[in-house]
Formats: sequence, C-alpha cells, structure tokens
Amino acid sequence: MRILSGIQPSGEPHIGNYFGAMRQHVELQERGEAIFFLADYHSMTTIRDAAERRRFTLELALDYLACGLDPKRAILYRQSDLPELCELAWILSTVTPMGLLERAHSYKDKIAAGVPVYHGLLAYPVLMAADILIYNPDIVPVGQDQKQHLEMTRDIAGAFNHTYGREVFKLPEAMILEEVAVVPGTDGRKMSKSYANTIRMFAPEAELKKAVMGIVTDSTPVDRPKDTATALFQLWSLFATPAEREALCARARAGGLGYGEVKKDLLARIWGYFAPLRERRAELARHKGDVEDALADGVRRARALAQPVLDAARDAAGLGPAPGGSLPEP
Ligand code: TRP
Repeated sequence: MRILSGIQPSGEPHIGNYFGAMRQHVELQERGEAIFFLADYHSMTTIRDAAERRRFTLELALDYLACGLDPKRAILYRQSDLPELCELAWILSTVTPMGLLERAHSYKDKIAAGVPVYHGLLAYPVLMAADILIYNPDIVPVGQDQKQHLEMTRDIAGAFNHTYGREVFKLPEAMILEEVAVVPGTDGRKMSKSYANTIRMFAPEAELKKAVMGIVTDSTPVDRPKDTATALFQLWSLFATPAEREALCARARAGGLGYGEVKKDLLARIWGYFAPLRERRAELARHKGDVEDALADGVRRARALAQPVLDAARDAAGLGPAPGGSLPEP
C-alpha cells in the first residue's frame, strides 16, 4: 500500500497539530510505503519571506523526525527539490476546468473577503493534484479541511485519462484523519494558530507554563462540582489513561478539585510527554547536515517513483520525442 501526504510549513507545531495529524502520519509509516513531503511550494501562497520559508521548512523536518518519522523507512523530502511537480502541474492545468477551481472553498473564501487573489491560490489544487498523482498512491491521509482538494484531484486525474485515452493516473482515495480527540485551544475554541490560542509542543518551560495557566476556566469555587466538558479537562485527558480520566472526573463531580491543581498536573504531563521528542529534536538541530542528507536521500527515492509516471503522462500527451526514437507517422 502506498501512502502519501504533504504538510505545509507554517511554523511552531502545537499540540492540536500533533494529535490531529503528526502522530497519525508517523504511525502510517508502519502500514505501507509512506511518502511525506514538506510543501514549501504551497507555502508560497501565504508566506512571502524567503528566510522564513527556509526556516519553517527545516523546522518542519525536525518536528517530524523528532516525532518518530524514520527517514530510512518512510520517504521524507522537500517539495521544491522535485521541480518535476511543476511540470506535471502545468500538464494537469490544461485539462482542469476553470469552474472546478473557482468552486474551491479556499479560493471562494478569499474572494468573499475581498482580499487580493493571486493565480497561485487559484492553481493551488492543481499543484496538489500533481503532488499526489505523480506517485499513484493508494491513500492520502488528510484532515477534513482537505477533502475538497482530494475530490478535485480525482476529477483532474479522470479528466487527463479521458482526454488522452489512457489510464495514466489512478484515482486516489482520501483517508480523512478523524480527530482522535477534540483539541481545544486555551480559549476553548478549536486550537489554531489563527486564533492565537495554541500550546506549542516544543515551547520552553516558561512559555508552556504561561499557556497552560491561561486556559480559560469559569469561576466555580474549589469545593463545588466542576463541568468536565471544558477545554481544561479535554486537554488534560489527552495526556491521561482512561482510568485516570475516570478518577479525575469523579473528583470533579464530587467537588473539592481546584482548577489550579489540574493545570499544574497538565503542565507536568505535557512537559513529560514531549520530553523525549524535545531531546531528539535538539539533537537533530545540532546535526542539520544529517537532516539535509536525509532529505536528499528522500528526494532521490521519490524521484525514482515519480519518473515513470511523469514519463507516462508526457508520452500520453505527446510531449517530447516518441519513446524508442521512432519518427511520427507523416
Ligand atoms: N494542502 C495541504 C494542507 O494544507 C498540504 C498538501 C499539499 C497536501 N500537497 C498535498 C496534502 C498533497 C496531501 C497531499 O494541509
């Protein structure tokens, strides 16, 4: 089974990213031939600072490696190290109806907000289709927000196959990563960088403490029963066993459990949970050359898988010389 996914470098992973995607991605490397890439081309639609893009991209590699992605087993590469993707995106763009792209949520939202829109944003799903179709993967694990992009990829693959009368591309299946648990932010809304309510996985202790102590709670006095369907208890539960959760909920219902105590314990649990990952990340950061070597090895293996599919697409579309060097019929 071939599994493929791309991750956008956006800086500073938080525990919502970890429980929502990173952990599942790393687990998938045990289930088949896994290919992951750092989507730096895609980040160009949002990040306009070159140094920031380089830094975020390298940091994302460190984050995934620290979380246990094994670059010997899975393929990990940087998208821009495979510029062939841009060629395939062009080829696919010529069979992609404008109407399809204009229906994309990400594009429509920007139009509705009245902000300037660039061609790259409109073309984003075409590059994403190229990312995927170049490997003919079986499954593409993505969050719910990427479901429409996956449907567009299937439409684009079908359009190419139909136009040139050859089954060059396989229609990929989305694998929607169910949120293992709700990961609320410190203000109770979904944890998201855009809400500024995140708890960063690798934050230094002082920052982590500030974030955890700042989780919103109500003003129920210590001795009164507490509502456990709240951000604090949900976050705490991510780092506890079912039995521990039961015990804490019982104490909350009985009254006498203070929010401060739960926060202190949560802080210790987050710190302890990510400690081995934090150490591994620090070690990797001291050997950035090794990380670049792993990415170079990754793109070499990715290219070997991608080349035959790209060649088949070029041939189906009549690009380049005929294979075998035969002259076209007059
Ligand atoms: N658009 C995806 C996101 O924002 C990232 C991405 C780019 C991707 N290319 C991909 C995901 C190909 C899966 C497959 O999350």
